[in-house]
Amino acid sequence: MTRPNTRRPSNTTLAAALLAILTITAGCSGSAPGIARGEALFDTCAPCHGDDGAGDQELAAPAIAGSSDWYLTYQIEKFQEGVRGYHYTDAEGLRMRPMSRALFADRGDIESVVEYVFSLPIPDPVPTAEGGDVEAGEAEYAALCANCHGIDGRGIDGAVPELNAPSLLHLNDWYIASSLRKYRDGVRGGSPGDAAGAVMRSPVVGMSDERIDDVTAYVMTMRRLPRRIPGPPPEPLPELIVDASILPEGVTVAMAREGQDIFHGEGVCVTCHLRQGAGGPLAPDLTDDVWLNIDGEYESIVNIVTTGVPQPIEHPGQMLARAGTAITDDQIRAVAAYVYTLSR
Ligand code: HEC
Ligand code: HEC
Ligand code: HEC
Repeated sequence: MTRPNTRRPSNTTLAAALLAILTITAGCSGSAPGIARGEALFDTCAPCHGDDGAGDQELAAPAIAGSSDWYLTYQIEKFQEGVRGYHYTDAEGLRMRPMSRALFADRGDIESVVEYVFSLPIPDPVPTAEGGDVEAGEAEYAALCANCHGIDGRGIDGAVPELNAPSLLHLNDWYIASSLRKYRDGVRGGSPGDAAGAVMRSPVVGMSDERIDDVTAYVMTMRRLPRRIPGPPPEPLPELIVDASILPEGVTVAMAREGQDIFHGEGVCVTCHLRQGAGGPLAPDLTDDVWLNIDGEYESIVNIVTTGVPQPIEHPGQMLARAGTAITDDQIRAVAAYVYTLSR
């Protein structure tokens, strides 16, 4: 697979983008947030992302048309906060970061430009890479990606970015492969507290360039479906009923209840172990009395959540330390209390 061309944007491209920002900041400051303002703001994006938002390989700027609105907003915010585009080797991310800073949330810039980008037709990317074993990639995708990005590649839309996954169908192969390598190497998704980035890193840490090329080649063969219509939100979790007498010393029912929220929220455990720890292709069932790496006692659960599982016994990918999130030691004790109750 050819590497994305990392030619720096010419001075004229950058000058055009910056001039557009100046014009728009001066001319549009009065106009109300909305799609018209978004279209004007898009003049600052088009020099790199293209007039149709379908991306530009020479500048390594990906397709942004075709993305979901929640995903666009979330990524722009990450660039603004330096959670993405933070690594000194991330030439492309570093190029996007100043552009994100030209958008002002309090003026409604982000919502306006996102509304406009979301209205653009979904691009139909043409494969550019040679090589990549589609059959091997299909098996990788089924084992490692489908759980989150969907068997059809359209992703999961929901209210919480950390627990969603973006569509892959509008993206070019050179960008998919380059992003996967960045996640693998911690150049993207490795900022402390970037839970969504950590969720995405786990399946690809340890992937060879060859496997990345295979899975990318397979994604390019997928049917170009329209966007998924978001389904209903999941049923709220039942109130956790725990018999306090089964809990080890120092562990309380309140901790287990807090742990249930962490498990299905900021701890992102649910993305792999699924709801109420039922288990799935990426992670084991936590409700039975079969334990693979530990003896299942409370302290052993605390330890494994703290250290992660670099070499799973039966599952692909990895579990990162603290699931790659910024959960604290107390939160780990709470989530371990919840896990402890699941099999008892
Ligand atoms: C100077 C060139 C340049 C300009 C101008 C620019 N971008 Fe980008 N943008 C990039 C590059 C390069 C990347 C890819 C970063 C990477 O590979 O991680 C990117 C990535 C993005 C992403 C992430 C896409 C994804 O799938 O994760 C979004 C969203 C985005 N840009 C939105 C915008 C918007 C909106 C504007 C206009 C306000 C804009 N960009 C202007 C170069 C640019
Ligand atoms: C456990 C859930 C999960 C699994 C499994 C997973 N992803 Fe992701 N993926 C995500 C999330 C969440 C994001 C957004 C991360 C972020 O904000 O940086 C993402 C982002 C991506 C992106 C970047 C999209 C963009 O527009 O920049 C690509 C490409 C991608 N995933 C491909 C894959 C492939 C290929 C696999 C299988 C090898 C895979 N993912 C497995 C959850 C997952
Ligand atoms: C990226 C996917 C992923 C995420 C997110 C994740 N895990 Fe895991 N978890 C795994 C894998 C893989 C294993 C090891 C399975 C194996 O050895 O085959 C594992 C193992 C475990 C085990 C030990 C089970 C055993 O039988 O050895 C516990 C307990 C556990 N995880 C709890 C959690 C908790 C709590 C969270 C959230 C803070 C979490 N996990 C987040 C993938 C994940």
